[in-house]
Amino acid sequence: MNVLLIGGTGMLGRAFREELTRRQITFTAPGRDRIDLSSSQVATSTAALLQETRSDILINCAAWTDVDGAETQEPAATRINGDAVRDLAHACAAHRALFVNFGTDYVFSGIATKPYTTTQPREPLNAYGRSKAAGEAALETLDANHWLHIRTSWLYAPWGKNFVRTMRTLLLTKPTLKVVNDQRGRPTSSEHLATTTLALITNKSRGIQHATDAGESTWFEFAQEIGRLANAKGTVEPCTTADFPRPAKRPAYSVLDLSHTEKLVGPMTPWREALANVMGRIE
Ligand SMILES: NC(=O)c1ccc[n+]([C@@H]2O[C@H](COP(=O)([O-])OP(=O)(O)OC[C@H]3O[C@@H](n4cnc5c(N)ncnc54)[C@H](OP(=O)(O)O)[C@@H]3O)[C@@H](O)[C@H]2O)c1
Repeated sequence: MNVLLIGGTGMLGRAFREELTRRQITFTAPGRDRIDLSSSQVATSTAALLQETRSDILINCAAWTDVDGAETQEPAATRINGDAVRDLAHACAAHRALFVNFGTDYVFSGIATKPYTTTQPREPLNAYGRSKAAGEAALETLDANHWLHIRTSWLYAPWGKNFVRTMRTLLLTKPTLKVVNDQRGRPTSSEHLATTTLALITNKSRGIQHATDAGESTWFEFAQEIGRLANAKGTVEPCTTADFPRPAKRPAYSVLDLSHTEKLVGPMTPWREALANVMGRIE
């Protein structure tokens, strides 16, 4: 395995850098100066990088991830999450390299009452979801032997900008905090997503897959567990989405079905167990 890692500076990108280093897998992680997904030159720069590094797998952790910001900048978000994904995938297909990309639970509307399967129709509620759905639709026009697209949800890590680090800091400094209790999903450790991705690649899995930690939670329940593990004095109170209007609508229920992935690579870790491990290493 020789990996070209795009977006290596991000939260998930760092999890890959650490895991690939630990496994002694050769990789190159070019910065934005070598590959800018907002540029019209993505296909050309990718082809050059694949050639130069002789990579057989491209793992793309780069994306437009500002969910609320996408509401006012949808074309820019779609350029990165839609058009650039198409260009990266085409360059990989021409080079006979596997293209690995990440998707989101936000491609679904959240009206379901049981976990979303990999084949359910996309019905995004917000601009970020539409931009990620555009990337999926572009991939689906290509031969699925060349790509693996892994949808995930509620990512966190001991580093980077994420809910766990923000909540921990707030609960250690504020007496009470209101957190929404009417959005249900699956918190996921970025490190687990990296190891599950490598297991799916090894299993020759292709097309759209789901990978999250196991179990489900609301943001309120997730925050409560973060506070408990941090021994924080601050308490968490439940509130509704309507109490805290945000620019982008969020799905009420976005639990991703894991049955196919678990059949291939074994059971996913329960989210409370994963969180306890990460909480001991928060930077
Ligand atoms: N975070 C979540 O809760 C979540 C949930 C579901 C799915 N996902 C998906 O998981 C993947 C990883 O997310 P993450 O949270 O790790 O992201 P992140 O921490 O926000 O990192 C984003 C990465 O993308 C790079 N990037 C952004 N715009 C770029 C551009 N124009 N050209 C080149 N690189 C660019 C950034 O580079 P710079 O360092 O140079 O800015 C950074 O390395 C994404 O596909 C995301 O959509 C995330």
